[in-house]
Amino acid sequence: MSISNVLSKPISIPKHVESPLLSEAERLALKDSIRQLLKSQNAVLVAHYYTDGDLQSLAEETGGCVADSLEMARYGSRSKADTLIVCGVRFMGETAKILNPEKRVLMPDLGATCSLDELCPELEFSDFCDQYPQYTVVVYANTSAAVKARADWVVTSSIALPIVQYLHQQGQKILWAPDKHLGNYIAKTTGADMLLWPGACVVHDEFKGIALADLRHLHPDAAVLVHPESPDSVITQADVVGSTTALIKAVVTMPNPTFIVATEEGIFWKMRQLAPGKRLIAAPTAGVGATCESCGHCPWMAMNSLKKLEQTLRLGIGEINVDPDVGRRAIIPIERMLDFASRKLGN
Ligand code: 13P
Ligand code: SF4
Repeated sequence: MSISNVLSKPISIPKHVESPLLSEAERLALKDSIRQLLKSQNAVLVAHYYTDGDLQSLAEETGGCVADSLEMARYGSRSKADTLIVCGVRFMGETAKILNPEKRVLMPDLGATCSLDELCPELEFSDFCDQYPQYTVVVYANTSAAVKARADWVVTSSIALPIVQYLHQQGQKILWAPDKHLGNYIAKTTGADMLLWPGACVVHDEFKGIALADLRHLHPDAAVLVHPESPDSVITQADVVGSTTALIKAVVTMPNPTFIVATEEGIFWKMRQLAPGKRLIAAPTAGVGATCESCGHCPWMAMNSLKKLEQTLRLGIGEINVDPDVGRRAIIPIERMLDFASRKLGN
């Protein structure tokens, strides 16, 4: 199948997620049960900033982590726990398993995928790579284990720029997949010669440049924070472009009283926790003639719920497995990224 056929195939976006209408007593009971199960199974929660606030607070209070995708990958390997419960989307669970094949990795819902991953199937991607053997293959972490296994480098949003800058300085040309907006932003910033797979995130792709310009006029004292999976018309208006961690740091450290935030809305939980006095406004996903499917809300991240997490732990379901041969190949470009982070960036 050609790339344009792959991208024109509709992906099934879950419209309805589990009802969040738990009573306070039910929420507390589920949290209690989860705390006990984590302890008795020597398990930790590794949660992304986009997940529900209840999951993030549980991860923190039980000694797990709440982080961006790079830090989630690193945390799993540092942890002494026998079981990692990854609250996020499937590629995050797969990365944890690839880096820790001896550990049990569970997820509250194995159906929690990512549009970037869905829009970059292994076979078509491999054919694309075969057409450009002289290019260094760099893939975003939001991909399947099999796509990672075909890559020279894996990157996350927090480290993509310095890695591509480094490869560009070495005179290498880059084949980039799957996020076209992030790829375009990196190519513009570094000047690297990059071939882009034309995928997009259904959440960030919805942010609208014209409506954002209108909103900025209404809030002249606001700083604009943008995740680089957003379209160019949004990125060019940003005061800060960066990973989820970088955007959270910006809210804490910048003096502005107000922030317009172009990323998934789950991030507001951590921003409010660390900067309670700041005013946060979601960047617009609508405007004249706009359609909005996700409205700043990742339908797959939302599949992680207290109820499913409790069930996962109690019944031992939702285990992530990666084909060992694929895992052995995929770990090479992932470890290359982690080595780069510690050697070149000192973290
Ligand atoms: P971060 O690595 O910045 O947390 O991004 C992950 C992601 O899925 C963004 O949509
Ligand atoms: Fe994937 Fe977008 Fe959801 Fe992030 S927000 S997990 S890139 S669909």
